[in-house]
Amino acid sequence: MYTSCTQDPPRAANAHVANELHAGLEARDAWISPKFLYDALGSKLFEAICELPEYYPTRTEAAIFARHGAEIAHAAGSGTTLIDLGAGNCAKAASLFPLLAPAQYVAVDISAEFLNDALGRLRQRFPQIAMEGLGMDFSTRFELPPSVAAGRRLFFYPGSSLGNFTPDEAQGFLRRLRGQCGDDGAVLIGIDLVKDKATLDAAYDDALGVTAAFNLNALRHVNKLIGADFDIRAWRHHGFYNEARGRVEMHLEATRPQHVHWHGGSRRFEAGDCIHTENSYKYQQADMIALLERSGFEATRVWTDPQRWFAVVHAQARAKAQVKVIH
Ligand code: AVI
Repeated sequence: MYTSCTQDPPRAANAHVANELHAGLEARDAWISPKFLYDALGSKLFEAICELPEYYPTRTEAAIFARHGAEIAHAAGSGTTLIDLGAGNCAKAASLFPLLAPAQYVAVDISAEFLNDALGRLRQRFPQIAMEGLGMDFSTRFELPPSVAAGRRLFFYPGSSLGNFTPDEAQGFLRRLRGQCGDDGAVLIGIDLVKDKATLDAAYDDALGVTAAFNLNALRHVNKLIGADFDIRAWRHHGFYNEARGRVEMHLEATRPQHVHWHGGSRRFEAGDCIHTENSYKYQQADMIALLERSGFEATRVWTDPQRWFAVVHAQARAKAQVKVIH
């Protein structure tokens, strides 16, 4: 399920990935999982998004870490096994190394290629920290290899990536994390909070078109993975806040009728047909705390920015006997 970062990632999709893509492309309402936004180029485009003036989450979260870093480190404790989920360029975790002083740093990302480069640079800057890179899709299953120290585990999931799961999926995901740490484990998690629609619309449909390129790149990635022939120029990006559903949605819309083929299938798209590529749920703080509780964690501290646009939550594992089972 996971690949060491010393290996090159496979070029063609494995059967599981191909089946997932076929199912989404052939569904009545076509969809592509947001994980396919992240090949090496997609990860770089996401890095560029984080620099955009419209995309407030990254800088707002960074400001929270800068302002409250010492308190956050105090709550989290030093000497942990720091497991960075969706590590990308590893920059967020690295900025906390001086405060958190982890015993081991485990960077996990679906894009092993991107992770490999980032970890290489980081090992030179922090030779005293044991580091491990895991190229794996942790969105549906999660099991850490024996090389990850069994000591006190701190799962680091910044950037509001939890919002890319539905609330039910998020609960399943958090419960899997709970299953991978002892009673002394914890999560340190970044959450994007509900705010006005205009701010959210702009954040996911920026003036430069970087988010559009990020979304369209999913088609390029799918072309590579399953030999599809999507013509990128025949698709248009949409990103907007759906207030009724409490989430930002990204879609790709066909700008002309077309027939798209891939190994083992094909589909006709009419002009205006859409492929749903991502949801980004925005939470009320209280709902997030309740979600953590249902998942076996107890929020110990919450830090926010002055506008209350973003929250960083530290939540401690509840002893297994105390975990409420909710059917
Ligand atoms: C990674 N994730 C938290 C980003 C988000 O805001 O949902 C992905 C993203 N999609 C468009 N812009 C950024």
